[in-house]
Formats: sequence, C-alpha cells, structure tokens
Amino acid sequence: LIYPQMPEHSLVVLIGPSGAGKSTIARTWPASQVLSLDALREVVSDDAGDQAATGDAVAALHLLLDARMRRRLFTVVDATNVTRSAREPLLAAAKRHDMLPIAVMVATPGSVCIERQGPRPANRTVPEDVVVKQRQDMVASHRTLKAEGFSEIVFSDSLYRLLPFLERLSE
Ligand code: CTP
Ligand code: MG
Repeated sequence: LIYPQMPEHSLVVLIGPSGAGKSTIARTWPASQVLSLDALREVVSDDAGDQAATGDAVAALHLLLDARMRRRLFTVVDATNVTRSAREPLLAAAKRHDMLPIAVMVATPGSVCIERQGPRPANRTVPEDVVVKQRQDMVASHRTLKAEGFSEIVFSDSLYRLLPFLERLSE
C-alpha cells in the first residue's frame, strides 16, 4: 500500500459506498486512530448491522471524535460519509480544534461494491439499490467537498493507493 504522507494534525474522512473498501484502508492505520461507525453500532447494540442503532452509534462517534480532536490526534472516520449532512459535524469538530480535514474518496466501481456484498454475513449485507444510491451520492459530493471545508481531496483507486489531487471516478 502506498500512501501519501498525511500531516499529523489531520482528520481523514473516508467517503464511499458499502463494499468500496473503506475499512480495508482504515486497517492500515493503528486501530486507536480509527473511529468506525460499524464498530460503534456493535458497541451500542451487539450487532454491527443493526440499522436501528445508527443514531446512537453516530452520537457516540461524534463524542469520541471531539475527544480526539480536542487532543489534536490524527483520526480516521470509517463510515460511508456520502452525504453532506453526515460530513458536516465531522468538519465542524475538525475546525473547532484547528485540525486539517482530508476527504478520501474510495472510488471503487459500483459493480465491485455490489459483488463484495455476496460473501458477507446476512446482517452486514447492504441491498444493491442502497449501494447504488450511496455511490451516486459520493459522486455528486465531489463537487462540494472543497466548499464544505475539506483542505484536501484524495482518491483511492481499486489497488488502494491514495492518489492525491487526481480527479478520478473510474467506473
Ligand atoms: N476487499 C477486497 N480487495 C480489496 C479491498 C477489499 O477483496 N483490495 C474486500 C474486503 O475483504 C471485504 C470487501 O472487499 O470483504 C469490502 O471491503 P470493506 O473494506 O469491508 O468495505 P467498506 O467500504 O468498509 O464497506 P462497508 O461500508 O459496508 O463497511
Ligand atoms: Mg466498513
């Protein structure tokens, strides 16, 4: 895996549909630096796929993120983050503590994201129409990330290299 050097005081926001490979990328950082929404869903409900637990898991994520931003610790948020409303509180936390918000778009082809749902356990399988919508939302987001306040936009290709500043949404 080839990663660009990321500044110490960064908040890395992974953006991509289910199956894009966000958690696979997140695992290349030390576990303590990664806030995973799936993991927090499991913490609050014993079931990482329990969508009814999302509200509580998001609240926990925001609390933990603020604790880390206050300490100015390098942090990665592993969630789909395909909507502006999901990203807004993350950016706000980074800005409050003068951290550098970096968007990492995990632009894996939609067909691959859908194929990858197959072998997953039933509670972690995301329906095809939901994956398609998440990918559309991610693509549409690209235009607004700068205006939202991200300092850098980085692309991850299907080999999981992060390609800085390369405008690529391969299909
Ligand atoms: N995967 C793969 N090859 C890669 C990266 C990922 O085969 N280069 C596989 C993983 O092993 C996993 C699946 O693709 O089984 C989805 O990857 P994951 O990182 O779990 O995707 P996420 O984006 O985290 O999906 P979700 O939002 O559902 O958590
Ligand atoms: Mg994941």
